[in-house]
Amino acid sequence: MVIYLTGFMGSGKSTLGKKLASLAGLPFIDLDREVELREKSDIATIFSERGELCFREAESKALRAIDTGTGAVIATGGGAPCFNDNMEFMNQTGITVYLRLTPAALTSRLEGARETRPLIEGLNGEKLLEFVEQKLREREPYYLQSAIVYEGLGQDARALLKEIRSKGGVSA
Ligand code: S3P
Repeated sequence: MVIYLTGFMGSGKSTLGKKLASLAGLPFIDLDREVELREKSDIATIFSERGELCFREAESKALRAIDTGTGAVIATGGGAPCFNDNMEFMNQTGITVYLRLTPAALTSRLEGARETRPLIEGLNGEKLLEFVEQKLREREPYYLQSAIVYEGLGQDARALLKEIRSKGGVSA
């Protein structure tokens, strides 16, 4: 079973992904880390030295290169579903779960986590909220193509895993 977690920056994909992975006995893979390993550089440097387009190419390649073996839980970067038919690829190769949070909740979670995220570097307060609202409007049509929409702050990983298994035709 391959599970892809989608959603905005700061929605908690890595935290929930690790919980799901340990409950399901599957490896956890973070797509951002895969990009960094393949490119031998960190996300902020890739953005600043090569630009976002290059990052998106690298991200799409890394997504397709993951060895999912007998299964995996994969946390994707916030922009990944919105480029290069990645959402279609994920829906063809696994079960997608959108972790949905409101712009206000995302903004408060992102306030303390800006330095590693080039898209929101230098934004705070009202400006950050405006950015999140605007980007979420652009991106949500992609996120909503996920097989499951999970209201993010509840984080009942056990119940979610049950739902994923029922969608994937694997008994819970
Ligand atoms: C991005 C989200 C980041 C990372 C990059 C771009 C985005 O991942 O891929 O900084 O476009 O939303 P997280 O969602 O894990 O923060």
